[in-house]
Amino acid sequence: MAVSVWLASVLLALGLSLVESQTGEDFTKLLSDFPNIDSRVRPVKNYSTVSVVNVSFHLMAILGFDTITQKLSSTGWLQATWSNEYTTWNPDHYGGVRSVSPNPATMWRPKLTLKNTMADLKPMGEDYINLELLPDGTTIWYPGDLLETFCRVDVTYFPFDIQICRWEMFVWGEGLDTVDLQVTTTDIILDTYVGNGEWQLMATQAWRDVRKNSTKPTPYANYEVTLRRRPTLLALTIMLPITVLAFVNVFVFTIPSESGERLSYSITVLLSFGVFMGFVLGSMPSSTENIPIMALNLAGLLVLSAIYVLLCIMSLRFFHRDHHKYPVPSVLKSFVVILETVFCLDQYLPKKNRVKVRQADVSELLDPACNPALVSPALVDIRKGRIVRRMQLVVSNADAMKSDVSDVMKSDVMGKAGAELGDEDDPDKREEASKAKDEMSWPRVSRTLDRLFFRFFGFLVLASNVTMFAVIIFNFRETIRSGLR
Ligand SMILES: *[C@@H]1O[C@H](CO)[C@@H](O)[C@H](O)[C@H]1NC(C)=O
Ligand SMILES: *[C@@H]1O[C@H](CO)[C@@H](O)[C@H](O)[C@H]1NC(C)=O
Ligand SMILES: *[C@@H]1O[C@H](CO)[C@@H](O)[C@H](O)[C@H]1NC(C)=O
Repeated sequence: MAVSVWLASVLLALGLSLVESQTGEDFTKLLSDFPNIDSRVRPVKNYSTVSVVNVSFHLMAILGFDTITQKLSSTGWLQATWSNEYTTWNPDHYGGVRSVSPNPATMWRPKLTLKNTMADLKPMGEDYINLELLPDGTTIWYPGDLLETFCRVDVTYFPFDIQICRWEMFVWGEGLDTVDLQVTTTDIILDTYVGNGEWQLMATQAWRDVRKNSTKPTPYANYEVTLRRRPTLLALTIMLPITVLAFVNVFVFTIPSESGERLSYSITVLLSFGVFMGFVLGSMPSSTENIPIMALNLAGLLVLSAIYVLLCIMSLRFFHRDHHKYPVPSVLKSFVVILETVFCLDQYLPKKNRVKVRQADVSELLDPACNPALVSPALVDIRKGRIVRRMQLVVSNADAMKSDVSDVMKSDVMGKAGAELGDEDDPDKREEASKAKDEMSWPRVSRTLDRLFFRFFGFLVLASNVTMFAVIIFNFRETIRSGLR
């Protein structure tokens, strides 16, 4: 209402400033000379004439968009012009009066009504909103109000969602044969628009159509905005923590069973997921028509978190099972071996070509201070890629010199060099591996399963998050493109 009052006073001031040197008598005379026509009667001399009302919509602000009740609150005003055949005058006869504002309550005005309103279903414009008359009978009226409209919300891609909202206006009680509504612009006029912090206005559109359904054909003025939610804050406060939590959760499988912390860790993460979910769902629009992809993702992650707890319990039970009382069943044994080989989960088998010789090891070996036998300056110059060759050199040198290089160090260097070169013919390693392979204990079953779970769920969480982000962002771009018709 405050908006309307402000508007009315501005327009009144505007109207009076146009008046130059006319006297009050001129206006009074003009107004009293107008024929006394009832305000319910359309101001046309031949009643078969259709009154054409031209409208343009000026959006002032989007006050709020309640996506739960699907209500868009906004303020705006219309500029409506029509022709009054009874109120024409010659300015020269009235001291040059070119514009006059009679009492709006005594004049005919179209009952412009919002069809998709969520407030009172009543025509726009109060009686105090000024109305301006021009000498040729053109009447200009600026009804404005707080508009509360229904806007169907699609939150599938929350928080990267785009909403399209409309204001549909018609003239109450009139059909195409009496009052025709014409839309004079192809857009909503945004000269008085102030931005909104949560919603960014992407595009606007305006058009007229005629609808007839159980009533006479009625012209409608339709105004539409495309609103984009500003996603940064929600992405930071909702999406990022969920994603981080999801990844942190998977790491429960890397905690050693001996530590005794596993179960409390997984329960804690599950709980924080639950708490967080309540918070997130509270800030998410709860529409049953479409479920946000993010809510699905959240629910999935919560279920996964519960599954982790169960798997942890299982793994812990395996770990602490008495090997002598309950030997590992042969089926489980072969299953674990298959897992280890197929998914490379083995810690017992020799790692082929996987040992990396760290430069530090070599440097230490080649440091004359640690290793007085090796004083050849050529060996001290180490570069990547030559390490292995140098090491062989060291080994052969050491062998040849039969110096103080300790046996331990020698075998260490040889082992590393051999591993690096992919030397699989090391009989010691093979023997060790086959021994380990035969020896199947419950802790080993537990550890292998943990490794499998870690990889499997890590991949699952990664894939589901990447998919979700990809779908949302792809759709976001598509909607923006189609929204800006
Ligand atoms: C009113 O207009 C219609 C068509 O526009 C015409 O047929 C009719 O004669 C007019 N009536 C008068 C009284 O002028
Ligand atoms: C309404 O708009 C049409 C075209 O835009 C114009 O020809 C006509 O004069 C306007 N009518 C009034 C009453 O302003
Ligand atoms: C009448 O209403 C039905 C739905 O109830 C709609 O499909 C149809 O398009 C409407 N007809 C017109 C002319 O608007």
